[in-house]
Amino acid sequence: MHQPVLLKETIALLDPKPGEFIIDGTIGSGGHAAKIFEKILPQGKLIGIDLDKDNLKKTESKILAEIKNEKDPPGSAAVKIKNNLILIQGNYADLPEILQSAELRGLNADKRGKRKVDGLLLDLGMSSEQIERSGRGFSFLRNEKLDMRYNHEAGSMNHEAWATAGEVINRLSEKELAEIFWKYGEERYSRRIAKGIVESRKRMAIKTTFDLVRIIRKSAPKSYEKGRIHPATRIFQALRIYINDELGNLERLLKNAPNILKSGGRAVIISFHSLEDRLVKNYFREMKKEGKAEILTKKPIMATREEVKLNPRSRSAKLRAIKFNYSTKFVDDRRP
Ligand SMILES: C[S@@+](CC[C@H](N)C(=O)[O-])C[C@H]1O[C@@H](n2cnc3c(N)ncnc32)[C@H](O)[C@@H]1O
Repeated sequence: MHQPVLLKETIALLDPKPGEFIIDGTIGSGGHAAKIFEKILPQGKLIGIDLDKDNLKKTESKILAEIKNEKDPPGSAAVKIKNNLILIQGNYADLPEILQSAELRGLNADKRGKRKVDGLLLDLGMSSEQIERSGRGFSFLRNEKLDMRYNHEAGSMNHEAWATAGEVINRLSEKELAEIFWKYGEERYSRRIAKGIVESRKRMAIKTTFDLVRIIRKSAPKSYEKGRIHPATRIFQALRIYINDELGNLERLLKNAPNILKSGGRAVIISFHSLEDRLVKNYFREMKKEGKAEILTKKPIMATREEVKLNPRSRSAKLRAIKFNYSTKFVDDRRP
């Protein structure tokens, strides 16, 4: 079961209130969403987005099952609030378009027909379900096909952004692979491993996660086996980030945040990679400098030792939050 990270801190900063309109842009199994939903009922609306369709159906029943109203006969609370929860398969980077789409017609639009929300949550990366059950090769501990796409139904082989990990590993040049491993994984043996991959694929296509793990082990020095982490950790992370264009999506979302959030709206972003955190930190600073927002977290919030013990995935989580405010008075200095 996926354990939501920094749950208490997320709810405190997102501060969802009854009647509000909130988006969980990476709803996954709905761990955060269930708590948010509970806070905005009975009138509020929650939109949950995820690239991965496989989870969405289960997520809906899970969230509805968690909402209990002692006064209602069993099951009827869920029936009443079903329409307040809208799940959409999509990319959070497309939120400006999703918010204006026909699917949401009649929902919370302002007088000009524009739809903005009171709160946005992004809990980046992959979920435990995807590692454990997707069969898409996210883990180096399971022998599966090298896919790694969150949206595994998307795209054609010709569109690099939607290529599978297998296609990338078997097609890209040694230099391109080394760059991906270095940029997104900070893998210090990036060049040696890229070379090992290119040599190995000349003999036979690299098809599974274990094929790749074998090559990584053979290419890196023996001492790498004794390190703190599995020798394939950084390569798998780099490939996943590249395949799903994770930094590109985050950049696109940040650029559009003022088109998504109302004045007074809060955004909470949980990242697991230093490059993601840097994007969020710099963007929040820029918004503050432009007088458009107040930063709610001076420093990133990290999991306590107790949480890390219970949920090791929380170890690298960094949470940052911001509150938008577009109503700052315009100072006209031409007047006396
Ligand atoms: C860490 S999990 C979220 C877990 C969720 N907060 C919970 O408590 O169950 C991240 C989810 O984001 C999804 N995801 C990753 N990139 C996405 C994107 N660009 N747009 C929408 N969903 C995305 C993944 O498929 C995954 O289900």
